[in-house]
Amino acid sequence: MSELHNIVLKILEKGKGILAADESTGTMTKRLNNVNVPSTPENRLLFRETLFSASSMSECIGGVILYDETIKQETSKKIKIPELISKMGSTPGIKVDTGAKVLAGSPDEKITEGLDGLRERLKEYYKLGAKFTKWRGVYTITKNFPSKLSMRSNAHSLARYAALVQECKMVPIVEPEVLMDGEHSAKECYEKTSEVIKRCFDELILHKVDLKGIILKPNMILAGNKSKNTISNEEVAKLTLKCLKNSVPSEVPGIAFLSGGQSEIEATENLNLINKYNDTNFIMSYSYGRALQQSALKFWSKNIQDIKGTQKVFNHRAKMNTLATQSKWSKDLEV
Ligand code: G3H
Repeated sequence: MSELHNIVLKILEKGKGILAADESTGTMTKRLNNVNVPSTPENRLLFRETLFSASSMSECIGGVILYDETIKQETSKKIKIPELISKMGSTPGIKVDTGAKVLAGSPDEKITEGLDGLRERLKEYYKLGAKFTKWRGVYTITKNFPSKLSMRSNAHSLARYAALVQECKMVPIVEPEVLMDGEHSAKECYEKTSEVIKRCFDELILHKVDLKGIILKPNMILAGNKSKNTISNEEVAKLTLKCLKNSVPSEVPGIAFLSGGQSEIEATENLNLINKYNDTNFIMSYSYGRALQQSALKFWSKNIQDIKGTQKVFNHRAKMNTLATQSKWSKDLEV
């Protein structure tokens, strides 16, 4: 079995998932401002260090995606952050794209940048302890979007990124995120997400990416957040499974969903149902940002020195999602 495949299996073993703590400084500043905490490097570190030392890091969190600032920081006890994550039994990873910018030729859409100098940055991150990486392409749904241009250019970038990451002996998380913003129906989300994912795999195969050594990080199939036609959680799960069965090659070992603006409970409930109906060989897990951190951040903002209290809130969320990967979650476990 290849080394990369082993890393994937270790990250997603025993119902574990991924903590996406890779918010850029700009995004983290917005999150902290929302809860009235000044966004200083010290505060960003304190919140993240609190999560990374929680007991769920050993039991539920198989991997943590970091941001450039965090992977280079040290804890209050002078332990390097990737070292702390490994010591807790989890795996350090790093976001390596440099963000989504206006797509020339289709200025209402985005193209993710960061390929220039990527090989050198990857070598540096590998030395800092990263075992896996993340790159996110974003797509919006309207009548005419995502355009062919957006689908092709983002798939091309994702594939070039993934090939470089594997060359540097790390596992690439391939994240094509079809946003839930808009009035579209779940059917449109299904059709457009399927096309986006198929296009990504065409390019990944062309670029000779080893599909056994990647993790796919897709959105679930949801109706747009301004749609009048919402669907049930059961339908979300069934459509999501149908989409992935038809668009993801069977060699891919693991799929870890993004939460994409769903509430914490919604993201857990949908993951639980996806696993209830999962008749594929894919491991279906989570790589949540907001849906793992929201309550913990809210609690912490009011009790910044209460490490144990914050960890308790975070541990609960991590536990609920790990139960959902085994389809063992139920609403009455939420207190
Ligand atoms: O790229 C997106 C993040 O890694 C996942 O964040 O779960 O809040 O959508 P989210």
